[in-house]
Amino acid sequence: MANVIIVGAQWGDEGKGKVVDIYTEYAQEVVRFQGGNNAGHTLVVGDEKTVLHLIPSGILHEGKRCIIGNGVVLDPKVFLEEIDGLKKKGYLKDDSQLMVDGAVNLIMPYHKMIDVAREQKSGAKKIGTTGRGIGPTYEDKVGRRGIRFADLLKPETFKRKLHEVLPEKNFFLEQFLGEKPCSEEAIVEEYLGYAERLRCYLGRASTTLDKAIKAGHNVLFEGAQGSLLDIDHGTYPYVTSSSTIAAGACTGAGLGPHLIDEVIGISKAYVTRVGEGPFPTELNDEMGETLRAAGNEFGATTGRPRRTGWLDIVALREAVRTNGLTGIALTKMDVLNDLETVKVCTAYRYGEQLLEEFPQDYDVLKDCTPVYEEIPGWLTDISTLSSYEELPVQVIDYVEKIEAWTGCPVVMVSVGPRRNETLMRSNPFTKKS
Ligand code: GDP
Ligand code: IMO
Ligand code: MG
Repeated sequence: MANVIIVGAQWGDEGKGKVVDIYTEYAQEVVRFQGGNNAGHTLVVGDEKTVLHLIPSGILHEGKRCIIGNGVVLDPKVFLEEIDGLKKKGYLKDDSQLMVDGAVNLIMPYHKMIDVAREQKSGAKKIGTTGRGIGPTYEDKVGRRGIRFADLLKPETFKRKLHEVLPEKNFFLEQFLGEKPCSEEAIVEEYLGYAERLRCYLGRASTTLDKAIKAGHNVLFEGAQGSLLDIDHGTYPYVTSSSTIAAGACTGAGLGPHLIDEVIGISKAYVTRVGEGPFPTELNDEMGETLRAAGNEFGATTGRPRRTGWLDIVALREAVRTNGLTGIALTKMDVLNDLETVKVCTAYRYGEQLLEEFPQDYDVLKDCTPVYEEIPGWLTDISTLSSYEELPVQVIDYVEKIEAWTGCPVVMVSVGPRRNETLMRSNPFTKKS
């Protein structure tokens, strides 16, 4: 029996969706514990691509329970659209496969308006958010004026809470951001219109998972975003508004840390970032374009081109430490197939200093330049291989160097977006059994 957390080890889009889809085979419950529909997790089964924003990436497997934990923020409209999309494709035949914790905070229309208008007003200082209302929703959660999923199912409570909070929101929208106010009646009509369809999904993550674990189930936790976007440990203020690191799984689902057996960090064989903020190994040149084209690096949520750069070991070591990673899954190795040489950043130069630890101070990080080690490329198509041992020696050397630099074992190498394009070295679910 093992409970496993999957987290992004970079700035998001590392291929978490693909890895969760694969690991779901070994779990009975799959749980999202933070973030919202700022996430875009891509699953490719055969020739069919599915992008999930809120629903856990285990949903394509029949009979597996997918739980949206209390730490998530949920836009009911997006959630229902995602359900409809899945049902149309023949998935989610049984609604009891999906559960939403009652304490999930709702993304309201004013949160989305504030997110977008604030970014516009910030001009060059913007964060580059996804504009989905994530930050403003978490602000209200922490400010104790959030409206929760369970409130939506009690019309009088929903109306009362909205009535209490809306004057402040409209004052801010009109007076500070120069936007139009939100209509209370329109929100009530829209949101209560969703309520009856949502009722069947109401549940409680903490008690459900406690029972499941006691019954001997394996639970898989699916992080969204990435460690470097964490509200505490990321490149603040260029971060998202939730705890994206492994510890977030415990608060975001209501479980104790002693129940977690393995934490797997997903890392691309290079790095991408969407939105603003420091990115020491960024390539603003032809090589950056090459990586973007070869990796098809365009956002699964907003379609924005992703910034690209070489693998950053300093940043990866930060993810190993803050998450307590027990394994790394390396994805998109195939994207480097055609390169003569591959660079890896092993330290930063900051003025006269050589830094091996990721700086916490934004003013230092933004002025760091990477120190590279160059490794030979493999100039071979590795996406058709079926076992790790068949990989070219250059790839195996690259993997072993990453293990030595980070002190963390690489448990999987992904060589394409599909399920079968995956070379597993060890399985976190069977390791201890
Ligand atoms: P997530 O947000 O971490 O789930 O990642 P995204 O879905 O946003 O982005 C990862 C993209 O890379 C998706 O388009 C995946 O289908 C794709 N992908 C995942 N693993 C691999 C891989 O090993 N090789 C290639 N070429 N593509 C991959
Ligand atoms: P997945 O789960 C990549 C980034 C945004 C922006 C910052 C804050 O698919 O890996 P937000 O809307 O959260 O307030 O934006 O975080 N961001 C992501 N980048 N992948 C994601 O999710 C992201 N979710 C948010 O681009 O820089
Ligand atoms: Mg993504």
